[in-house]
Amino acid sequence: MEFERHRRLRATSGIRNLVRENHVTVNDLVYPMFVEEGLSGTSEISAMPGVMHYGIDAFRREIHRLSELGIPGIIIFGVPSEKDEMASSAYAPKGVVQEAVRAAKAENPDLVVMTDVCLCQYSSTGHCGIVRDGKIVNDDSLTLIAKTALSHAEAGADIVAPSDMMDGRVARIREVLDENKFEDVSIFSYAVKYASAFYGPFREAAHSTPSFGDRKSYQMDPANVREAMREAASDIAEGADILMVKPALSYMDVMRQIRDTYDLPIGTYNVSAEYSMVKAAAMQGWIDERAIVMEMMTSFKRAGADIILTYHAPDVARWLKEENR
Ligand code: PBG
Repeated sequence: MEFERHRRLRATSGIRNLVRENHVTVNDLVYPMFVEEGLSGTSEISAMPGVMHYGIDAFRREIHRLSELGIPGIIIFGVPSEKDEMASSAYAPKGVVQEAVRAAKAENPDLVVMTDVCLCQYSSTGHCGIVRDGKIVNDDSLTLIAKTALSHAEAGADIVAPSDMMDGRVARIREVLDENKFEDVSIFSYAVKYASAFYGPFREAAHSTPSFGDRKSYQMDPANVREAMREAASDIAEGADILMVKPALSYMDVMRQIRDTYDLPIGTYNVSAEYSMVKAAAMQGWIDERAIVMEMMTSFKRAGADIILTYHAPDVARWLKEENR
């Protein structure tokens, strides 16, 4: 009987290393960080063991540690002390994100500093756009979203990442950045962002649960993939430099399709509940955390991600260092 001997190339770890198709490296990683205004030290986010809220000084020390691990980038989420209807703490020149950007750049000028651009953590409604008569209004939200992105660029952000899912935000942000001579600041668009239950722990972390309703009128329906292609096409046409697919684990088919259709770099966001599930099972001793996390990271690469935003980043960086020793 004739058959193929696939096992030949799996026989030793040396051969497996030679024929491996996808690799996770520290250069793929972006670490999401929560900076809380007025906090001294750190406080752990209960649903995300190991993930912290940082006061500004603790944040700066953590940047040092991440840099030593070789992690190339972070994305900053702000937890402001004040919220109002116009989300004015989102674009305050001395707001929590703006100060964190300055601190990160002062600590390590080579670190790629990204900012999440959204209104939800900063607005009293907890929605990603402005609310009028119980509706999330698109076009007026764009002005504030672009203003927020500009304030991040002015503080020194390398990349702004709009996560609000209003239509036209990428075009408006590009226009405002260019008018203000920030042609070199990139836009990493949360182009394909689903209305997902996997953001649950994040909303506790960022205090951004909507005060009424849900996000389904702006975030995408998890059932749709053709719509994801239209979202990506719009953001590319509007001037996005990098596209994101979010969440990661349940949406790898979408990731693959975007990868096969477009040439832009693509990031995937391994979101809060994806992290919490792994942590919870690991804490019970039910899974091998390191093996599970590395398998997930490899899968993201295989699905076509160039960039992985993940709360596991410091652990992954440490494990990769150990492997190379
Ligand atoms: C803000 C934002 C959210 C996440 C990133 N940016 C929450 C949301 O849209 O409700 C989720 C990240 C995570 O769950 O880790 N719009």
